[in-house]
Amino acid sequence: MNLPFTHDEYFDRQSSFLDQLPDGSVVIIPTNMKKRRSNDTNFPFRANSYMLYLSGWDHPGGIWVAHNLDSSWETSLYVRPNDTKSEIWEGRILGPDFVTQNFPVDNGYSINSFDDDFIQYIQHQNFSSIISIDGVDAHIDQLIYDHNVPNLDARKFLDKLRLKKSENEIEIMIKSAELASQAHILAMKSGNSGVSECHLQSIIEGYFISNRSRWAYPSIVGGGDNATILHYSINQDDIQDGELVLIDAGCEIEGYASDITRTWPVNGKFTDPQREIYELVLNAEKAAIQACQVGAPWRSFHEAASKVLAQGLIDLGILDCTLQEALGDDFNGPYRNYFMHGTGHLLGLDVHDVGGGRQGDDGPSPVFTSGMILTVEPGLYFASWRTDVSIPSKYSGIGVRIEDNILITDNGPIVLTSSCPKEIDEIEALIGTGE
Ligand code: GLY
Ligand code: MN
Ligand code: MN
Repeated sequence: MNLPFTHDEYFDRQSSFLDQLPDGSVVIIPTNMKKRRSNDTNFPFRANSYMLYLSGWDHPGGIWVAHNLDSSWETSLYVRPNDTKSEIWEGRILGPDFVTQNFPVDNGYSINSFDDDFIQYIQHQNFSSIISIDGVDAHIDQLIYDHNVPNLDARKFLDKLRLKKSENEIEIMIKSAELASQAHILAMKSGNSGVSECHLQSIIEGYFISNRSRWAYPSIVGGGDNATILHYSINQDDIQDGELVLIDAGCEIEGYASDITRTWPVNGKFTDPQREIYELVLNAEKAAIQACQVGAPWRSFHEAASKVLAQGLIDLGILDCTLQEALGDDFNGPYRNYFMHGTGHLLGLDVHDVGGGRQGDDGPSPVFTSGMILTVEPGLYFASWRTDVSIPSKYSGIGVRIEDNILITDNGPIVLTSSCPKEIDEIEALIGTGE
């Protein structure tokens, strides 16, 4: 059994986290349990990202504990004990002894002893506070609540660490970006009039699975008007001749997500109105990527994309106003009628990764620093059914988003998804060419 990182890398992460905490801290980081889908059937298991970050423990159930009650830090991982009956049905359980020998912690313990140990921790004469993450394990939330002990949110200390990716994390994320890029290329090659959304989905996800990966979020495959639905994931319609298809799909490697969107004409040829909107979004995306420079405030890339989109909407006659009016106060003007989401988000163990880089998040947004990875994903959407805003008939039913994954470096942004074509002539040359 190999962990994705060396023990030393996990120890570095743990000390960067624990060094911030006061004396008398008891840290409790639970992971996800199995979740019931229907009778005797579970959802595919996905570990909690903080658990993966701190220990690499990628199995259902488990609690990572650290405390400095006796002057130095001691770390433990509480896991399910061996149990022959369960193992006959569900496979081998690694168990506490294996954890002690193979995981980056001082001790492996049975999860069955956690509640008693919890009482010991909070009754220790040096105990000051619990540092935990709520909403992952209801039993632990209740335990902390019932004992009414001081409780700090661990995310406050951990999220800023997850913001900057290590060399080894970057290496994995490059692989994740490349795997997803190749999946999108395969889907483009399979494009043809009448192809179903689910067929394209199966090509993308089949490629993930055959490469020992899986999706990082439910794939969005929307043809025609469905491309204008931001989180469409029904993926059941046939895509008609002359329609665009928008595919937003990414995979996970060792828990690290990629997140790519490409939009292309299913019959291999953009119509003039489709091309006008596509070129505008592509120009906005390129401007936003260029704005991702070390030292720039987080909002810079959203502002760069917004200016290009707003001016383009005016030039195409969709908005009838000045650029300033189109942008509005605080970039909330009428251009947002057609571009309703953020220009991007941090990317990592969570597809919408932690670290404060999403519009609407509480707390300060980061400035761009080397080692950050984010998406850049402007779009324009003209749903045919909308009556609240003007939708010129020639653009009705067009939805375009272009999304790449970007690594920030001191030498400028690097597009990790650059093998996935996005120039019009490259895309047109690929569609429908088969294998
Ligand atoms: N796939 C979700 C997003 O692009 O944010
Ligand atoms: Mn996406
Ligand atoms: Mn995204």
